[in-house]
Amino acid sequence: MSTTTSIARVGDFAGQAVTLEGWLYNKRSSGKIQFLQVRDGTGLIQCVAVKAEVGEDTFAVCASLTQESSLRVTGLVRADDRAPGGYELTVQSVEAVQIAEEYPISLKEHGVDFLMDHRHLWVRVPRQRALLRIRAEVERAVAAYLDGNGFTRVDPPLLTPSSCEDTTELFHTQYFDQEAYLTQSGQMYMEAAAMSLGKVYSAGPAFRAEKSKTRRHLIEFWMIEPEMAFVEHDENLRIQEQLVSHVVKHVLNHCEEELHTLGRDVSALAKVEAPFPRLSYDEAIDWLQKHDFDIQWGDDFGSPHETALANQFDRPLFIERYPTAIKAFYMQPDPNRPEVALCADMLAPEGYGEIIGGSQRIHDYELLKQRFDEHKLPEDTYAWYLDLRKYGSVPHSGFGLGLERTIAWISGIEHIREAIAFPRTLYRLYP
Ligand code: 4AD
Ligand code: MG
Repeated sequence: MSTTTSIARVGDFAGQAVTLEGWLYNKRSSGKIQFLQVRDGTGLIQCVAVKAEVGEDTFAVCASLTQESSLRVTGLVRADDRAPGGYELTVQSVEAVQIAEEYPISLKEHGVDFLMDHRHLWVRVPRQRALLRIRAEVERAVAAYLDGNGFTRVDPPLLTPSSCEDTTELFHTQYFDQEAYLTQSGQMYMEAAAMSLGKVYSAGPAFRAEKSKTRRHLIEFWMIEPEMAFVEHDENLRIQEQLVSHVVKHVLNHCEEELHTLGRDVSALAKVEAPFPRLSYDEAIDWLQKHDFDIQWGDDFGSPHETALANQFDRPLFIERYPTAIKAFYMQPDPNRPEVALCADMLAPEGYGEIIGGSQRIHDYELLKQRFDEHKLPEDTYAWYLDLRKYGSVPHSGFGLGLERTIAWISGIEHIREAIAFPRTLYRLYP
């Protein structure tokens, strides 16, 4: 009897027999020896079957294994400095669990549309596995930071009767005899929760029917939304830079192998240390104009602007105090300069764009009501949100961190679609 273990743990069993359960990633044969590369989700190991040692039958099973066939293999763990994980397995016996049909994804290059059509199989390759592992570690690090700093997780609804960010981007659906929308952001509900618990956060999906087909946009993406009572603009930014520095450090410490698989330049990530540089929107406009961008005060930034601004720095950049007119209705105007809002976007370096959008929220009832009128928002669907300003209203702030953009930046990947297991993009709802 041998112990069943995982490839990541074989080091604990050097010199002993173990059983591994996994899939055939690749195979080489030299007539008398077969080299099976087996993966099990925790790693990759080479299993060596020598005909003279294993016998005809076992050798024939090895020969029958096709790419991605599922198997159980038993053998002796042998330390080998040249092996990728430091160990090899000397095969004693092999059981084919299922012989795979010819695998659509060979180890050669494929076009991205083909790969996306086969996303259910593409997730198995080392690069995609690395990205899914990094995503899980980013989620873990976010939760650890927030849980460790007095935040309580609250889960807002996904089906809502109203919008938070922009009505044109809503997915409509039927809620029995009522019209409903898929949430774009849980922020408004998190504001209610913050008045109960002080510091809260959500971590869940958001849906935006944006007709944009860029490397930064998903239709369904995940957002982390902290919301904090009695926290004002400056402190909001401090928490964001602490959180992002923590996440990057955690990934550097826990995903060394994955970052290596992706070919990520980790020296760029090592520089990500709070505090982050801050530019006001005014300064950003000045800088862009001096660098020959055709942009006026009052315009929103496009991705070329964001990339140029962020490229000046080796860590994320805050741009703060955007014109009130181009930002969401709920943002608190700067009391000294009401034409700008107490808000900031965090732009990641290396052209990854906005990873966080946040602001201080309007806490004054009259001012918020005025905004509702200006933006022609139906007061009945938002009555509860206005209510929050009637019963012990306090200054409060929060932000939304886009999970996939953060992962794309940390992983150094070209396109956000690989930062989620099954991306929903403009023309893709399959698989
Ligand atoms: O800036 P946004 O729209 O802010 C909000 O939704 C606020 N209500 C959040 C809050 O204050 N609680 O979105 C926040 C972040 C962006 O910075 C970006 O990282 C990400 O969400 N994001 C997207 N990521 C992928 N695809 C999209 N279509 C995205 N739209 C926003
Ligand atoms: Mg934004």
